[in-house]
Amino acid sequence: MLSYVCFAAGLIAVSAISLTDCCISRSITLDARISLNKTGQDIDQGLLPFNPSSVLGQNQTFAEVLRFPTVPPSLNDGSQYKAVEVTLNDDSIFAPSATNKQTGFRRTELLPQNDALSVNASTSGVQIWHLSVKRDESRQLNYSHEYYLFWQESQDFSRDQYILGTGTLFGDGNNKTTAEEAEQLWLRSNDADSQRTVWKTAFTTGVWHNVAILLDFAQNVLQVYYSTDYEEPVAQGGVVANDLSGNGEFHIGLLKKPTGVNLTDITKQGFQESGIDEGIIFGGAFEEACNRGL
Ligand SMILES: *[C@@H]1O[C@H](CO)[C@@H](O)[C@H](O)[C@H]1NC(C)=O
Ligand SMILES: *[C@@H]1O[C@H](CO)[C@@H](O)[C@H](O)[C@H]1NC(C)=O
Ligand SMILES: *[C@@H]1O[C@H](CO)[C@@H](O)[C@H](O)[C@H]1NC(C)=O
Ligand SMILES: *[C@@H]1O[C@H](CO)[C@@H](O)[C@H](O)[C@H]1NC(C)=O
Ligand SMILES: *[C@@H]1O[C@H](CO)[C@@H](O)[C@H](O)[C@H]1NC(C)=O
Ligand SMILES: *[C@@H]1O[C@H](CO)[C@@H](O)[C@H](O)[C@H]1NC(C)=O
Repeated sequence: MLSYVCFAAGLIAVSAISLTDCCISRSITLDARISLNKTGQDIDQGLLPFNPSSVLGQNQTFAEVLRFPTVPPSLNDGSQYKAVEVTLNDDSIFAPSATNKQTGFRRTELLPQNDALSVNASTSGVQIWHLSVKRDESRQLNYSHEYYLFWQESQDFSRDQYILGTGTLFGDGNNKTTAEEAEQLWLRSNDADSQRTVWKTAFTTGVWHNVAILLDFAQNVLQVYYSTDYEEPVAQGGVVANDLSGNGEFHIGLLKKPTGVNLTDITKQGFQESGIDEGIIFGGAFEEACNRGL
C-alpha cells in the first residue's frame, strides 16, 4: 500500500496527515482560487492564470457566464478568495474551430494555467487537487443529463483520465436512473478503459462538497478524499489503479452532455432542451505537489 506526505515544514507521520493543515508551506502547482476583487473580465483579458478563450460559448465572454454569488467561503477559500459560479445557457456552445461547433454539448469551463512551470509539471509526480462544489438551487441542473464538473483531458484530447461529475450517465439514456441515483456526485475512471464509478456520494443541497483527489502520475493510481463544509476531507478507501498517462489539462466547470441513443457523434448530436439557466458554484480549487512518502 502506498502512502503519501505533502511537502510540509517537516515530515509528518502518515496517520497524522490532515489535508488542510499538513501543508503550511504548500507547494502549489496550479492555483484556481479567485481573489476577492477579481472578475470574469479579468479572465477574458488574460489577467488571471486561466486560459482566456477556452472553454465557453463561441460568442460568449467569461464576464457573461461567470458569477460570484454571496455564499459562505469554502474550506480552502478562507478570507482571501471567493466562490465562482459557472453558468450554462443556450449559447454555451463551444466551437474548437470556426467549422466545428459542439452543438451536442453545453460548456463553460475554467482551464487553470501556470506559465512559470514546464508544460507537464502539473501532470507529473504526485499531486493533490482540492476543490469544493456547491449546488445553486436557483440555477438547477437537469439531472436527467450527465454533467462533468472537474476532469483531466489528455494532451492529445483522446481521453479523460478521470471525471468528477453528476447526473444520469450518458448511455443510461433511456432514463433508467432514479432521481436519487442521478443526484450523486461521482468520480469515474479513465474513459479510454472500461469506465467505472470509483466513488460516489449524494449531491445534497445547501452544503459545500469538498473533494480532494490524490494523483500519482508515476504509479497510475488515485485516491479520493471527501468532506462537507468545514470538515477535514477524509480518504474514501485506499488508492485505486487508474491510467493517468497522457498529461494534458484540467477542466473546472460544466460540460453538459446531450441525451439520446445510438448517437455517432455526441459532440454534435442528441437532445438539449432550450431556455436553460444552470449553474454550479466552485471554491478553493488548487493543485499542490506532494511527496510520495515512507
Ligand atoms: C486587488 O487586491 C490585490 C491584493 O489585495 C491588490 O494588490 C490589488 O490592487 C487589488 N486590485 C483592485 C483592482 O482593487
Ligand atoms: C456566433 O455568432 C456567429 C455570427 O452571428 C454565428 O454565425 C454563430 O453561429 C454563433 N455561434 C454560436 C455557437 O451560436
Ligand atoms: C431535462 O432533460 C430531459 C432529457 O433531455 C428532458 O426531457 C427534460 O425536458 C429536461 N427538463 C427540463 C426541465 O428542461
Ligand atoms: C429522468 O429521470 C430523472 C431522474 O429521475 C427525472 O428527474 C426526469 O424527469 C426524467 N426525465 C424523463 C424525460 O423521464
Ligand atoms: C508532455 O506530455 C506529452 C504527452 O504525454 C508528451 O508528448 C510531451 O513530450 C511532454 N513534453 C515534455 C516537454 O516533456
Ligand atoms: C438503437 O440501436 C438499436 C440496435 O441497433 C436498435 O434496436 C434501436 O431501435 C435503436 N434505437 C433508436 C431510437 O434508434
